[in-house]
Amino acid sequence: MLNITGIKINYQKEPIGITQVDQIGWIMESEKRNTIQTAFWIQISKDDQFSHIIWDSSKQESKESVHYRPEGFKPDSTSKYYIRVKIWTNHDEESEWKTSCFVTALLSTAEWKAQFITIEEDQDADESRGSYLRNRIFINSDKAVKSAYLYSTALGLYHVFINGKKISQDEFAPGWTSYQKHLLYQMYDVTEYLNASDNVIAAHIGAGWYKGTMGFVRMRNHYGKRTAFACQLVIEYSDGSREVRISDTDWSGAWSPVTFSEIYDGEVYDASLEIADWNMTQCQYNGWNACKEVAFDRSILHAQSGCKVKEIERLPVKQIIQTPKGDTVLDFGQNMTGWIEFNATGKKGDRVELQCFEVLDAQGNVYLDNLRTAKQTVTYLFGQDGTVTFHPNFTFQGFQYALVKEYPCKPDPKDFVAVVLHSDMNEAGTFVSSNQDVNQLWHNIKWGMKGNFLDVPTDCPQRDERLGWTGDAQIFCRTASYLMDTYTFYTKWLRDVAADQTEEGGVPHVVPDLLIGKSQHDRLMKDGDHSAAAWADVAVILPWTLYQVYGDKTVIVNQYESMKAWIDFMQEHAVDYIWNYKLQFGDWVSLDAEEGSYFGATPNDLTCTAYFAYVTKLFYKMAEVIGRQDDVKIYRDLYEKIRQTYHKTFFDHTGRLTARTQTAQIISLYFDLVPEEYRKNVVEDLLLLLEQENGHLVTGFVGTPYFCHALSQNGHTKEAYELLLKEDFPSWIYQVKKGATTIWEHWDGLKDDGTMWSPDMNSFNHYAYGAVGEWISRVAVGIEIDEEFPGYEHSIICPHIGGNFTRLGGSYQSVYGTISSEWEIEEQNVTLHVSIPCNATATIRLTDAEEVRDADGLIFQKNDSGFTAEAGSGDYQIKFRLSFGLG
Ligand code: BGC
Repeated sequence: MLNITGIKINYQKEPIGITQVDQIGWIMESEKRNTIQTAFWIQISKDDQFSHIIWDSSKQESKESVHYRPEGFKPDSTSKYYIRVKIWTNHDEESEWKTSCFVTALLSTAEWKAQFITIEEDQDADESRGSYLRNRIFINSDKAVKSAYLYSTALGLYHVFINGKKISQDEFAPGWTSYQKHLLYQMYDVTEYLNASDNVIAAHIGAGWYKGTMGFVRMRNHYGKRTAFACQLVIEYSDGSREVRISDTDWSGAWSPVTFSEIYDGEVYDASLEIADWNMTQCQYNGWNACKEVAFDRSILHAQSGCKVKEIERLPVKQIIQTPKGDTVLDFGQNMTGWIEFNATGKKGDRVELQCFEVLDAQGNVYLDNLRTAKQTVTYLFGQDGTVTFHPNFTFQGFQYALVKEYPCKPDPKDFVAVVLHSDMNEAGTFVSSNQDVNQLWHNIKWGMKGNFLDVPTDCPQRDERLGWTGDAQIFCRTASYLMDTYTFYTKWLRDVAADQTEEGGVPHVVPDLLIGKSQHDRLMKDGDHSAAAWADVAVILPWTLYQVYGDKTVIVNQYESMKAWIDFMQEHAVDYIWNYKLQFGDWVSLDAEEGSYFGATPNDLTCTAYFAYVTKLFYKMAEVIGRQDDVKIYRDLYEKIRQTYHKTFFDHTGRLTARTQTAQIISLYFDLVPEEYRKNVVEDLLLLLEQENGHLVTGFVGTPYFCHALSQNGHTKEAYELLLKEDFPSWIYQVKKGATTIWEHWDGLKDDGTMWSPDMNSFNHYAYGAVGEWISRVAVGIEIDEEFPGYEHSIICPHIGGNFTRLGGSYQSVYGTISSEWEIEEQNVTLHVSIPCNATATIRLTDAEEVRDADGLIFQKNDSGFTAEAGSGDYQIKFRLSFGLG
């Protein structure tokens, strides 16, 4: 039976708030092997019965099932469309129609009529108070409302209500963007929330990233001094007529009970300041003030249809601890990002005060030092006797523990729940193995991601930083894109990468940028610093990664000028193709750094030039993909020159790299910058440098992600596994053995003697080193993309047997469907389970096989690197004998 199991529009199921249909994709299922689509038919209609079809592809003989763009389809603003898809396959099967829908937003920003309104004055610039804004809206009760959609956004953070009900589960809307250049608005279907005539629309606004203190020099008001809100309600009546209501100075406002709320420091909520029924028609309060308009350029508004921050899961208290110092501490057993919701009974004037933190010190006492100045404290003041359920509104915390500073009664585990918040992405990749430590490492990698994907990719969620560090994002993006469906998340952020580039094409260290021109008091950075190798290169590596993972050229087209500007910037500042510039982070926090230094021992000239070559190559490949032949030639020539210069400059006359660091060897190998005749030397040197550390890595942000790759790509899979499985310091498993539930910033975040790395920079939830997840999924599990057919249209399934595993595998939910690879081994006999989705194919490579004993219908050819078979869709169970013993 042939089925279509999922239709996505712009990578989302039934999106609300898109301005064009960029991409229609569907997944198909059939129990028949080797299923390939031969034709499709798509129809778009304004009604779910498809009686008024407004766009029709007609039956198209085509294999295309993932990035179809309905050319010529011109939607209207604020309209719901139904779409249906039917397909045919090479087995002469025909599917039923499968229906989905989407709703369009405002197609032109000129349609935005709403005013940005506030009750704040310029002198409130230092306030981080919440404010309530509201307006009563009477609608025409003579006509039935067919649909009502609300567009809303804020300068700051907001929650919006209609007649007392919160209309969405979104948190931290409108998200964090380079607000003066790019502000998102959200769209909600509010048809069910409206009364027949008398209604109140209301919003609660907080300071958030817009106005609160952000950045490590603790500046505030980065984007403006006053918070504001804007909304536009579009009502369509059953007779087809429409009415639009907007926020304007007819609205009124008042301070809310949130007397303080900021991203780093937490929130104070004084319930004695509550305004009864503040967001309902029956409100009797008479202290409302008229709102004022805040000027804002509405032409930079963009609809956000997906990947909004939401409550994702809830974790109970694992235990309540009394520390040796006598503190009461809640332990949730998992480092995470979100907030604590509590249910407390108290009397008027009682307080609840909880301070969130990550780790206990060696004695088991509360450890706050690594939070630096971030207070991470939530305070609730009772306004009357009773029981309340509360969580903060406009702040999030990075924590495993909470210090109960004040509580009106004896804390009971049942009173508290940790709410995990992050951008709403579907989980895509799984991993499972017979090694519990590696399973825990995988868990930690995933939780490192969950903790740092709150609207922008951050470095850490707990201390006074939480910034969109470009390097961290670059290092982790391939791992992230295996773990979850990141397309919408990253493409939103890439818009800000481009928006925040300097006029010359330089890329800020953090995006959204709030460091350039604001770092004069920082100990490391100067005011004009930007454009660091491995950090700024996210501008090219991330689009490339998304193109590989999704096979969608749109990301290349959209980021093309940004990528090109970055490469031109490097070229402009390079001297004879050797590039280096201002402050470089180098192999950040590697262990070969001088004592007390964050910068690794690998020379900056080498790191910068290696990345310059690498991204120039990725760029000309992408230029080729979208047919920019003019640029292909220019940038291929540039690449060749950088590569030659790299050879001349960084190798000595014996054909060895003069830089004697693990990272120098790793990136030269992984970026393909080693002349073939020197490869043997560089691999030898890498093994030697590894041996000198007794088999340990001493690499930082630059070398670590590629270490295992550099080994396994050069015939040393055994050593790659040994590195992955190393248990003592420094290693991935060392953290696991120390009880980590996320990935640490430093290999020695927590030392063997119980002491910690300097509190000035010691995050226990920093995803960067979790980038080894990429090697685990691509090499150990063996689900690899074929660059020629990206998006897993054709995969290379090439698991590498090794380590001490008896079982290892994983699956990935690609745009075509689920791909999986899992091997089990008994003595030298391996059973490999592989699944390939419909409309996709794979090459299955058994590099470790001596003999294939059961090919399950596939035809394996023997060649130099083992056995290879071409497979179509389906599930396969292959048995082979290993060519080596696992001792
Ligand atoms: C961040 C890092 C970041 C680095 C660059 C740190 O403070 O937490 O992850 O990439 O600075 O210097």
